Amino acid sequence: MRVNVCVGSSCHLKGSYDVVQKLQKLVKDNNLEEKIEICGSFCLGHCSNGVTIKIGEDYIENINAQNIEEKFKKEIITRL
Ligand code: FES
Repeated sequence: MRVNVCVGSSCHLKGSYDVVQKLQKLVKDNNLEEKIEICGSFCLGHCSNGVTIKIGEDYIENINAQNIEEKFKKEIITRL
């Protein structure tokens, strides 16, 4: 499953680099490298709502380094 993390300028300023780093660590720590691919993405068109990720056709907004672990469990693991 591919998880696209927006690294466009607005999301970058809101911490998308940290989100990518933490997501990659979560994937590794949970031994999910074979199942989850973390990719950077250009602007996903949801700039006003914080860092945005896209999974399939779903956009999940307001992601940050503090809530990414919770979002990982709730929004990503549950889709596997
Ligand atoms: S910069 Fe991330 S949604 Fe636009």
